[in-house]
Amino acid sequence: MSCFDKVVDRRGTCSAKWDGHEVLGVPCDALPLWVADMDFEIMPQVNEAIRRRTEHAVYGYPLPSAEYYASIQGWMERRFNWPIEKDWILTIPGVVPALSLAIQAFTRPGDAVMIQPPVYPPFANAVTGHGRKLVKNPLVLVDGEYKIDFRDFEEKIAGNGVRLFLLCSPHNPVGRVWSPAELKQMAEICRAYDVLVVSDEIHQDLVYPGVRHYPFTQPDPAWWERAIVCTAPSKSFNLAGLQTSNIIIADPDLRQKFAETARCWGISKVNAIGLAACQAAYTHGDTWMDAVMAYIAENKEYVRRFLAENLPRIQMARPQGLFLLWLDFRALGMTAEELEHFLLHKAGLWLNQGYTFGEEGAGFARLNIGCPRSTLETAMERLQAAVGALGL
Ligand SMILES: Cc1ncc(COP(=O)(O)O)c(C=O)c1O
Repeated sequence: MSCFDKVVDRRGTCSAKWDGHEVLGVPCDALPLWVADMDFEIMPQVNEAIRRRTEHAVYGYPLPSAEYYASIQGWMERRFNWPIEKDWILTIPGVVPALSLAIQAFTRPGDAVMIQPPVYPPFANAVTGHGRKLVKNPLVLVDGEYKIDFRDFEEKIAGNGVRLFLLCSPHNPVGRVWSPAELKQMAEICRAYDVLVVSDEIHQDLVYPGVRHYPFTQPDPAWWERAIVCTAPSKSFNLAGLQTSNIIIADPDLRQKFAETARCWGISKVNAIGLAACQAAYTHGDTWMDAVMAYIAENKEYVRRFLAENLPRIQMARPQGLFLLWLDFRALGMTAEELEHFLLHKAGLWLNQGYTFGEEGAGFARLNIGCPRSTLETAMERLQAAVGALGL
């Protein structure tokens, strides 16, 4: 029995995932496997660090300590062979705010910003919400795995005068961990057209055993001049509610502009508890991180086998990381609305609907497997019964 098998009752904790049914108009018995947080308890050393911090019982404005920065540097060096300097790290309360800040700081209304759908919905929102032009380089599904169409990538940049590219690395929801060759090709095209790359690496730690994530700027320091890397312990260590993220910018001019914009919007401070939790996670988290990913990889295998054996019409895009699976329901022949209704009301499953990741995601849904295996077993049984009742 693994510690991750423990079922934690999260209801009544102001959890969006578990307490949001009524507010979001979802049937009260739908099993929540949607928003990207895990149902696991955080690791004991992080809990202990939070407990120690709360014992102090004064919560004035915090300032990250030297130890805080050292913990981030240590983590990036140990986990990714990525030496970063303390001064490159800017703390802000979230990666989604960082995407908007970068767009505000480095583009003007009407400028073109490129994304790779199907992708995490706030990417498109950040572009259109700030009055920028949304340019899409859709990923293509080839033999069960998503790939980048590089010809389209370059044509879209050249044809639209793209100024900024929002990269999702690893990619949510399709679970691709980009290879050094893919990163190189993207970086070279972006350099050739002077496109700033904002690489959202919030899922950097969530790769399956044997897979390696490369921070965007790590393979070639020459890319540092035109790149912003967004990191956080929030997905990896299940700390999303503590809203602490670390934006890593090597180039001093870019960094200064980004920091000024953050100050101007009043979001340059983080949460005192979040600082303590992040430092403890990055200082003590190696073993826990490896263990949670081993468990999640087994969850992924469980779902893959279950679908192959019992529900072959439902395909799973082959992921290399993430606690999220991207499932292809198109063979059920439903519209996006019908699929949403079927999953919520017939299968009793609350997943993220694929169309919310862009029209490219219609017919798909995202399943959160950051949960005990028993929860997934319930989910698969529900899905099997509902598909069976369709009589296809
Ligand atoms: C790619 C990506 N970026 C950012 C976030 C959220 O970041 P934050 O909560 O730090 O704003 C998520 C959450 O799922 C995500 O998947």
